[in-house]
Amino acid sequence: MIQFQYHTPASQYLLPEARSIETGDGTLHLHLGSAYCLDPPFEGFGPLLESQLGLNDGCEDLYFTNAKEALPVEGYQLKVTKDQVVARASSKAGMFQAIQTIRQLYLAGHGLLPTCRIEDSPLYRWRGFMLDCARHFFTVGEIEKLIDAAALHHLNVFHWHLTDDQGWRFPVDGYPGLEAASRRADPEHQGKEYGGFYTEADIREVVDFAAQRFVTVVPEIDVPGHCGALLSVYPQLGFNAPQRPECGWGIFPAVLNPAKAEVFAFLKAAIGTLCRLFPGPYIHIGGDECPHAAWEADAGCRKLMAEKGIADADALQGWFTSEVAKLVKAAGRRAIGWDEVFEFGGDALDKEVIIASWRGSEAGIKAAKAGHQVIMCPKDKGCYLDYQYEDDPEEIGAPHKVSSFTQCATFDPSEGFDEESRKNLLGGQANLWTEYVRNGREAEYLAFPRLALIAERLWNPQPVESLDERMAMEYAKLDGLKVLSWRGASA
Ligand code: ACM
Repeated sequence: MIQFQYHTPASQYLLPEARSIETGDGTLHLHLGSAYCLDPPFEGFGPLLESQLGLNDGCEDLYFTNAKEALPVEGYQLKVTKDQVVARASSKAGMFQAIQTIRQLYLAGHGLLPTCRIEDSPLYRWRGFMLDCARHFFTVGEIEKLIDAAALHHLNVFHWHLTDDQGWRFPVDGYPGLEAASRRADPEHQGKEYGGFYTEADIREVVDFAAQRFVTVVPEIDVPGHCGALLSVYPQLGFNAPQRPECGWGIFPAVLNPAKAEVFAFLKAAIGTLCRLFPGPYIHIGGDECPHAAWEADAGCRKLMAEKGIADADALQGWFTSEVAKLVKAAGRRAIGWDEVFEFGGDALDKEVIIASWRGSEAGIKAAKAGHQVIMCPKDKGCYLDYQYEDDPEEIGAPHKVSSFTQCATFDPSEGFDEESRKNLLGGQANLWTEYVRNGREAEYLAFPRLALIAERLWNPQPVESLDERMAMEYAKLDGLKVLSWRGASA
């Protein structure tokens, strides 16, 4: 339990810290009887204020109102006096961020809000969090808890990794039986069936939950590698199909066959299904760690390469990506790919494809220079939340790989960018792969507080030393949400 001090500056309550914040003198007690009043554009926020802050409808204590002037995208102003809260925004997205700041003050202060005046808006528009739901399955409830905690920290993208060698997790129109690609006979579970499949109703539930928190959900189908689970049900779509979805971890030889028209028919159907279920503008098409040996050995692939003048298997992956990106574009969405799609796609890759730079920063910097918009999530800079906090056999997470507290707290997505290419930098994200993450509690522990630290780097970066004073408040917030978190020596 932290010692509450009445003179604690309001800035210490916040992670991310607000862009401009002045602390007054005294506090406001928010309690179950506190009542809110919403201006017409913000009327839809009633249920959220009731569920997140326990407030009542009634025009007495908290006012959510239009800003007098246009504020930046997602920007807001907040004034807390001893007897009133006034939040102003010129968009619903901005008002949502104001409500999350009130929620941070509320959780950190156990209901006592410091009087203050805040003006705030984000540095980057892409502030993301990826959860791998293929290596281990996470329930809708577990996912929603993580989205809610991410949104508290002003994150605004949930990247949902839905397919991999170990599981294909959603139904595709016209392709029955994919549910079998979501279950494996797993030694980790004494050979019992392990897995899970998201129904359309599950997906709509997550998308709605996220939308209420102004979080865009980006679904990922990882192709042409990482397709073992899919090929276990539809082996005719590729090479090296396993009998069942994989149980172990690593890079597997299963790969789609780019020389088959049926593969593109399947991908068109999968993209069509995703467009029906996910209203957001983006579809992630994967592209990482694709094995090429089967393509090199196959007469059909070699014939395709000869016909199209494709020099080698790397270029064949580039061609495949361009074909999938065309399907995404024809469906009215924007494709995102891991940085291999830029390496292999080169100049022929449509500049509208967004590149997620994960193997380091270099690919992202080059892609931005070449005219692609980029999302930075380099694994060597703290963005891989499946890594351990410290190299310690007692800790959970990928053994002997570390994303330290300090790395996360100093991550700078713009490092190495020049002024021109920085215009193509959308922001960054943290990725939680789940080979070593078995359930929601372990995911929370690995995500928090690192995800909050990265959120600050994307919203309003602050010196790492400023965290010394803020972490106790941060843990109070996470405790308030019943989110498990790591509390190591360096925090
Ligand atoms: C990745 O970590 N394979 C994108």
